[in-house]
Amino acid sequence: MKRFRPYRISQEIRDKYADVRIISSDFIYPYFVTEGENIRAEIASMEGVYRLSVDRLLDDVGELPPLGIDKILLFGVIPDNEKDESGSRGTSPDSIICRAVKAIKRQFPAITVFTDICLCEYTSHGHCGLLHHQDVNNDATLPLLAEMAYQHAVAGADFVAPSAMMDGQVEAIRNRLDKAGLSARILAYSAKYASSFYGPFRDAAGSTPSFGNRKTYQMDYRTHDQGLEEIGADIEEGADWIMVKPALAYLDMIHRASVRFPDYPLVAYQVSGEYSMLKNGAKQGFFNEQQIFLESLTAIKRAGANHIISYYAKDFLTHFH
Ligand code: PBG
Repeated sequence: MKRFRPYRISQEIRDKYADVRIISSDFIYPYFVTEGENIRAEIASMEGVYRLSVDRLLDDVGELPPLGIDKILLFGVIPDNEKDESGSRGTSPDSIICRAVKAIKRQFPAITVFTDICLCEYTSHGHCGLLHHQDVNNDATLPLLAEMAYQHAVAGADFVAPSAMMDGQVEAIRNRLDKAGLSARILAYSAKYASSFYGPFRDAAGSTPSFGNRKTYQMDYRTHDQGLEEIGADIEEGADWIMVKPALAYLDMIHRASVRFPDYPLVAYQVSGEYSMLKNGAKQGFFNEQQIFLESLTAIKRAGANHIISYYAKDFLTHFH
């Protein structure tokens, strides 16, 4: 008989054998940035997550270094009446994200800034690409994604993170950045599944499709090997970091990606639905909030993620730093 209980006999002994631990540098903390001043509006579907104007964003980012968080991901939120067919407010050099990036890099040069590259937050129809006859026109979208990435990189973004799931988006962005001599790197949302777990985010970013769904461009979760093919293609196109999204229901894909592509930093996205589920479950008294997040985040890291995008990062480190 092999005895395992000695490994578990006390907290001290359990800590000694714990070989997976979450640390502050694992996290990438997401923000929703909005127009205006002095705005800090809690998102109804995501308790504890806010839409922030740039001035209040700077206040909030100031709280990160003491917690050890050094990476953030920015999403833009604009009013409906500023959206158009091609998402032109997202690709402009004066976009909300460009202004936010400049302000953050000026005040906090040590923070690594990732920006989301997608049209859905800026188009009147709420889809991730340009539309053509009720479907996205993949190839016509590529120059717009490349332009958005270029503008973010010029503003000072360290990483651009294309999430539109258009074929060829990484290559289009890579070529545009290289031609301009910009050193921004690319975090590719490579294996991004069409998922019900994004529900609360669409409320947060005002990016719900006005018709249909995203199943013609985001991955079908009934596929097994295609996730690895998507990642491989993005690497060939020039991705520097790779991602699996969502996280907790896709631990198998995180693990497979980490084994297959060990040389590429692997990011897992604990998405809005995962966050709200755990948060609300805790609020209902089903479990302890900090413990359920600790367990979930540890599982994501144990599966092989090198970094985790989490709305809970700040809260987590406030408790466990
Ligand atoms: C698209 C984008 C989405 C998320 C990140 N980038 C929404 C979608 O694809 O529907 C989801 C993130 C989350 O749910 O937390 N710009």
